[in-house]
Amino acid sequence: MSIEHREHVGEVTTTPERFENPGISPHRPRLSDEDPRAAKRAERQTILIFTLSILATVGGIVGYFAFPIQAPSLGNVRMSTLTLGLGLGIGMLGIGVAAVHWAKSLMSDVERVEERHVQRSDDATRAAAVEILSTGAAESNIARRPLLKGALGTALALAPLSFLVPLIGNLGADWNVSKFRHTAWAPVNGKLRRLATDPSDRPIKPSDVTIGSVVHVMPQGLPDEPGYLEEKAKAVVLLIRLDPRDLNEPEDRKDWSYEGIVAYSKICTHVGCPVALYERQTHHLLCPCHQSTFDVANQAKVVFGPAKRALPQLPIALDEEGYLVAQSDFLEPVGPSFWERER
Ligand code: FES
Repeated sequence: MSIEHREHVGEVTTTPERFENPGISPHRPRLSDEDPRAAKRAERQTILIFTLSILATVGGIVGYFAFPIQAPSLGNVRMSTLTLGLGLGIGMLGIGVAAVHWAKSLMSDVERVEERHVQRSDDATRAAAVEILSTGAAESNIARRPLLKGALGTALALAPLSFLVPLIGNLGADWNVSKFRHTAWAPVNGKLRRLATDPSDRPIKPSDVTIGSVVHVMPQGLPDEPGYLEEKAKAVVLLIRLDPRDLNEPEDRKDWSYEGIVAYSKICTHVGCPVALYERQTHHLLCPCHQSTFDVANQAKVVFGPAKRALPQLPIALDEEGYLVAQSDFLEPVGPSFWERER
């Protein structure tokens, strides 16, 4: 911007260069303004996009019921997530695209100048505002195009169902707390469960776990069948190796670890977030949700934060082939302390 200098006694002031008001550029009518067939075509296109939105929303809801996740398998959860996500995404996108197309092709595109005025509005201004709104409503042609109005209304009315139907469906789910007393670590037909890496399902030997490392493990060979994900979520365990001299184990737990390797439930006992951050120097495990801190060297007792009880420990041992196994299931419920209250 060029500036013009004015010199006064002892001071310099600047004022911005002044521009001519270019005014409003001339209005160029669109095809739909001049050709009723083009306007009709634009209307049909808008209705078609709204209809796609409606179909996508309905498809998402149908997919939710077609792939129930109350008895989940990995395939069901994937398909349910995919159909709900596509239904929601295409449904919302359709409403947006249709609204833009409608505005650009059918609504009035005449520019208007609104002069600045003081904030206070008198009766005449209010009346003018109402008139402007009425004119806008009239120019949107909604009154003369009932099918378009119906398509818009139906698309907007159905869109929230993408959220509400899964929400209401899950309210009826079976929240039986006794499920939290048992996990997939329990022996199967007398055979102890091996600890395996996730997701490769490779069994683990003590030599795989170095001092200071943390390994996320699952029971080996969990079958991909209904309930699989629920079982996997409950059974997740952290395997940690300490210098055996640092471990403070009570008498009744002396045989729960193997050469400094201990296994604890990864589910925080506060409200169930995955405990994940391990500090090797202090042997502290931190839950990232609300900073509950557990002392791994001291039976994972709570040393800080809102959790009220230690992380449940999984007793481990070595099988005849040298792999780490769970001696039994957890001896207390995993997860938030709430589940323990009925014990
Ligand atoms: S869930 Fe872990 S501290 Fe709250």
